[in-house]
Amino acid sequence: MKRIGLLTSGGDCQALNAAMRGVVKSMYNSGEQIEVYGFLNGYQGLIYGNYRMLDPSDFSGILTRGGTILGSSRTPFKTIREPDEKGLNKVEAMKHNYHKRNLDCLVILGGNGTHKTANLLREEGLNIVTLPKTIDNDLWGTDMTFGFQSAVDIATNVIDAIHTTADSHGRVFIVEVMGHKVGFLTLNAGLASGADIILIPEIPYDIDKVVEAINRRKERGASFTIIAVAEGAISKEDAKLSKKEYKKKLANREHPSVSYEVASEIEKRTGQEVRVTVPGHMQRGGSPCPYDRVFASRLGAEAGKLILKGEYGFMVGYRNREIVKVPLEEVAGKLKMLEPKASIIKEAKLLGISFGD
Ligand code: F6P
Repeated sequence: MKRIGLLTSGGDCQALNAAMRGVVKSMYNSGEQIEVYGFLNGYQGLIYGNYRMLDPSDFSGILTRGGTILGSSRTPFKTIREPDEKGLNKVEAMKHNYHKRNLDCLVILGGNGTHKTANLLREEGLNIVTLPKTIDNDLWGTDMTFGFQSAVDIATNVIDAIHTTADSHGRVFIVEVMGHKVGFLTLNAGLASGADIILIPEIPYDIDKVVEAINRRKERGASFTIIAVAEGAISKEDAKLSKKEYKKKLANREHPSVSYEVASEIEKRTGQEVRVTVPGHMQRGGSPCPYDRVFASRLGAEAGKLILKGEYGFMVGYRNREIVKVPLEEVAGKLKMLEPKASIIKEAKLLGISFGD
């Protein structure tokens, strides 16, 4: 008999349900008896003992369903050691709820912040197995996270649609793509949709170079320009600021996001009409794409295998086209960013895409 707890934490993404289904199906199919506790709304469920017993029927029909059947929330790692408003010690409460149910293992699906807490729980003696979710693909230790490819599809479709209207009106269009502090999503959606300029956090931009690229296109007879801007994109001047100075600047920014700042600079310098589109949380919504369904199912099945063998303290990830187990202490607290010298960037430049550098 194995007793497992499941929880999904942080911003949701596509294929969370497919991954949980993979874990549970692989365990049921092994013939082992299992009891599944679904903790609700991320770590909040574990802290306050809110859970639901799940049986095989709960995992039927959810392969294609977006979101998470367990709900999710953000529980910042920064304050995890601080007592809650009623004085409750959150870490001790999580340990208590784990031991009270006699769990063999807790399966945690999440991104960067989630992994810091997962590793802390491992250090506190709990058996943990994690799965890498996030549309940002910024998790250390895995080449790919589930949710990413589905978000690339959505952002690509948005830019595809913008292309036709940009063409009709001869406008400059900016599409702001999610991705937090990294540019994987923007780069891939930008490449897939034929964006002319791509601005990502890993390559700070020079607005004069952006304007040069727009003018070059105009001289060649193109009436419109499409710019994919990562929500975390940063100018060369801002990249020189200290973290504190940059935070202060963001707090006082007159524009709602970097895209509007870039748009206003371009309008000032070129006199061309610029429009901004922000697809936002649409990028995390809807059904997982086929790639993510397969990928999350595979990761889930491998996680089930690890639990049956009693191997704990790992994230099930993907490296060099292989499913691998990565020690949690290697994953926690590190951000995976795009390497500006990566061959994908060089190839994009060969295609004539400007990064504003
Ligand atoms: O980490 C996933 C993500 O969608 C980021 O791309 C984005 O910056 C952030 O979450 C948005 O967070 P929230 O849903 O809390 O607004």
